Amino acid sequence: MPKAIIDIKDLSFIFDDGFRGLNHISLSINQGEFIILAGKNGSGKTTFLRHLNGLLMPTSGTIRVNGLEISKHLIETRKTVGMVFQDPDTQMVGDTVFDEVAFGPENLKITRARIKEIVTKVLETLNLFHLKDRNPSTLSGGEKRKVAIAGILVMDPQVIVFDEPFSNLDYPGILQVLATIMDLHRAGQTVMIATHDIEPVIFEATRMIIMEKGSVKEDDVPLNLVGRLESYGVREPCFSKFGLEPQSWQK
Ligand SMILES: Nc1ncnc2c1ncn2[C@@H]1O[C@H](COP(=O)(O)OP(=O)(O)OP(=O)(O)O)[C@@H](O)[C@H]1O
Ligand SMILES: [Mg+2]
Repeated sequence: MPKAIIDIKDLSFIFDDGFRGLNHISLSINQGEFIILAGKNGSGKTTFLRHLNGLLMPTSGTIRVNGLEISKHLIETRKTVGMVFQDPDTQMVGDTVFDEVAFGPENLKITRARIKEIVTKVLETLNLFHLKDRNPSTLSGGEKRKVAIAGILVMDPQVIVFDEPFSNLDYPGILQVLATIMDLHRAGQTVMIATHDIEPVIFEATRMIIMEKGSVKEDDVPLNLVGRLESYGVREPCFSKFGLEPQSWQK
């Protein structure tokens, strides 16, 4: 049996205005999975992801992270589940890239020397060390997103959740962020990605969940779903349209 890190039972969420954002969702997220969360605009992907680290709390149902119910263990949950938002600017608080990445660890009881060590290691791993003294607001979109990923990685989460990690990036930017995400997964990290851009990640993904109107409509290995994607408003990858084998975007 795979080890479930996140266990969701009958999760529903209703917004203040009465709109039902999530509708009776039950699923588990297991150690080492790489999950694509797909579905058209407004299908509930972001609403769902925001529940995974307690940014939104269920109206009904439960979410457990490593067996602990989120609402009662918010700090542990946020250490376990790291979230990279769609717009990295909203996540940036530091005057330099280094301070930005050090922000999370500084809120934990860790010595300065240890913080310097772990921040340096993460910046080197993501090939960002040369930017450490730059103001994050001066970085390109792809660099900003990598800094946002670095800020999550220093916290050493068990699961990393990305909301639209490729949006607003050019092709080299997508490749940079893609390589970062692939490396994480290959190192054993559990990854979940909400994206409209299936093509770059489908080769790596172990599972695809499709949402519509706040409900999970499909949950299967990606290759079993590619032919049905367009009925959910998700673009079918080119390889499957043309009857080809999927190919990695990584050279
Ligand atoms: N604060 C709110 N109050 C009421 N409805 C909301 C609120 N926030 C989001 N919604 C609605 O919930 C639905 C799901 O939104 P959500 O952002 O989760 O969709 P999504 O799948 O992430 O879409 P996208 O692909 O555009 O990012 C949408 O219809 C949205 O309008
Ligand atoms: Mg969204």
